[in-house]
Amino acid sequence: MTVSASCDAAAKGRVLIVGATGFIGQYVAEASLSSGRATILLFRSGDTSPSKSQTSKTLQDKGATIVHGDMKDQELMEKILKEYEIDVVISAVGGANILDQLILVRAIKAVGTVKRFVPSEFGHDVDRADPVEPGLTMYREKREVRRSIEECGVPYTYICCNSIASWPYYDNTHPSEVLPPLDHFQIYGDGTVKAYFVAGSDIGKFTMKAVDDIRTLNKSVHFRPSCNFLNINELASLWEKKIGRILPRVTVTEDDLLAAAEENIIPQSIVASFTHDIFIKGCQVNFSIDGPNEVEVKSLYPDESFQTMDECFDDFVVKMDDHKGMTEGIIAQNRVVEMLPIINMCT
Ligand SMILES: NC(=O)c1ccc[n+]([C@@H]2O[C@H](COP(=O)([O-])OP(=O)(O)OC[C@H]3O[C@@H](n4cnc5c(N)ncnc54)[C@H](OP(=O)(O)O)[C@@H]3O)[C@@H](O)[C@H]2O)c1
Repeated sequence: MTVSASCDAAAKGRVLIVGATGFIGQYVAEASLSSGRATILLFRSGDTSPSKSQTSKTLQDKGATIVHGDMKDQELMEKILKEYEIDVVISAVGGANILDQLILVRAIKAVGTVKRFVPSEFGHDVDRADPVEPGLTMYREKREVRRSIEECGVPYTYICCNSIASWPYYDNTHPSEVLPPLDHFQIYGDGTVKAYFVAGSDIGKFTMKAVDDIRTLNKSVHFRPSCNFLNINELASLWEKKIGRILPRVTVTEDDLLAAAEENIIPQSIVASFTHDIFIKGCQVNFSIDGPNEVEVKSLYPDESFQTMDECFDDFVVKMDDHKGMTEGIIAQNRVVEMLPIINMCT
């Protein structure tokens, strides 16, 4: 590493990431390491599954420091924040652990040296969006964390990155781990309500750009890449072009989505309620970003490009080819690759 590169890395704050073994957290951890920052990852002890061990090894090989512990242990969190001289804390804990962050906020406040906290949001503006239950409960919890951060005077940035680039299955919290449909599309409502799709790597990249940018201090950062502003009919047509086939389109009505939400099967019903909010009510597009505490990411970094949905679908085609042998027997079930993560996310 050159002197100027190491000065540059030192100039960027030291980052603690909670949740780096998770779906969104891995993208953030990768981006933090790519940006050359000192990256410390809090891992909970106990889970020694091969996939977590592999994630841990991959991230350590790229330069991450792993510390073990639980975010719910305030004393430990204060110790880590002090010992590692953490400037930036990013949380990417999952839906079941949102309120655990209240303890982390208290630790950050007590230590008093953290320059930025990014709580686990990575979706919609939870103060604006108003999904039906059970999604609403998760948003209420995320709102409670926001209010605690603001009341404690902890410097923050809220990442409102909208939908992860993938086929938006209404029953899967990690849809980018699943191939888009190969037998038929499920179209929500009339399929004309638009949404923004952002590749996981771009969620990580732009999050890391924002964390020590003075222009994002105490603001919500909205991701609205115009290249990926699509409705579900357009998404279906794009995928048909990639696979060279026309697939039947089956309508999933507003009532179907509400019924799936009402079943209250966690986490699938939470996803159904968000799907209803996005593709029926238009929660990503029914407001403009003009408040004093909000900013659009492209206006901050006009020279940075987003991976397009077209490119993301190319990646799925490559995955499909890679898994061809394996997928042939599974295609009939319409959910093709990487079934393990789906099982994991249900736990
Ligand atoms: N925009 C989108 O399309 C989209 C999609 C999915 C999720 N999200 C959002 O992204 C955020 C992260 O969700 P996710 O699905 O990525 O989560 P996830 O895959 O369930 O991962 C959660 C991570 O948090 C860690 N964790 C949980 N509680 C902890 C604690 N007390 N101490 C330390 N670590 C703890 C877990 O560690 P272990 O390994 O020990 O379990 C895991 O690494 C959520 O806010 C979610 O709503 C957005």
